Amino acid sequence: MNDPTTIRRLYGRRQGHKLRAGQAALVEEWLPRLSVAEAGPLDAATLFGDDRPIEVEIGFGSGEHLAAQAEAAPTHGFIGCEPFLNGVVGALGHVRDRGLGNVRLHMGDALTVLERLPDASVERVYLLHPDPWPKARHAKRRMINHGPLDLIAAKLKPGGEFRLGTDDPTYCRWSMMVMNARRDFDWLAKTPHDFLDRPADWPETRYERKARRQGHEVWYFRYRRR
Ligand SMILES: C[S@@+](CC[C@H](N)C(=O)[O-])C[C@H]1O[C@@H](n2cnc3c(N)ncnc32)[C@H](O)[C@@H]1O
Repeated sequence: MNDPTTIRRLYGRRQGHKLRAGQAALVEEWLPRLSVAEAGPLDAATLFGDDRPIEVEIGFGSGEHLAAQAEAAPTHGFIGCEPFLNGVVGALGHVRDRGLGNVRLHMGDALTVLERLPDASVERVYLLHPDPWPKARHAKRRMINHGPLDLIAAKLKPGGEFRLGTDDPTYCRWSMMVMNARRDFDWLAKTPHDFLDRPADWPETRYERKARRQGHEVWYFRYRRR
């Protein structure tokens, strides 16, 4: 079956409203400083100057979760991937305002960054409120599919963590079904509270807040790489 690793196409918006002058200046000044190189292998030493644990966020939206995690773990290196320019502007603002030296960004497809990292080198991967693609005929576009999960599994260290958040009931069921079929991840939930309540070290994202405002339930999945 096709999935994002074989389709290699981004479907969402790349840009929303036109950037204000201050935002355009932020992009011009800060994005080149923080962007990961366009090609070639990537590792912690190249990106951060030392051999630190790496965490990757796929589709960081406006970057509030990425920035909060990076602030909480200053000795780790964070790579945020997001093709939506207006979201990238948000992340750049967080990095500048909070003085974060441990964040690198890729404005584009997260898969192209993941595949350039060494195998078994990543401490955590975050996939928070991925685009749900609720129609069955679009299921192949979902990031939760065996192709992307094979890649995530290959890059995570044994014992590393994969976090998935969603408020979409179809995506929730789909993800549980796909993840249950995998032998390389253990679901860390022992009781319903473990996936119904947001863990203390899981900062709220913009999408999550919006979902809660609309009365949606949100599910928090944590998986450990075997
Ligand atoms: C529904 S939004 C959620 C944003 C954010 N994680 C949050 O919870 O607020 C999904 C995001 O995934 C991004 N996205 C989609 N495909 C992606 C890919 N292949 N690599 C990186 N980001 C991607 C979209 O641009 C969008 O910003």
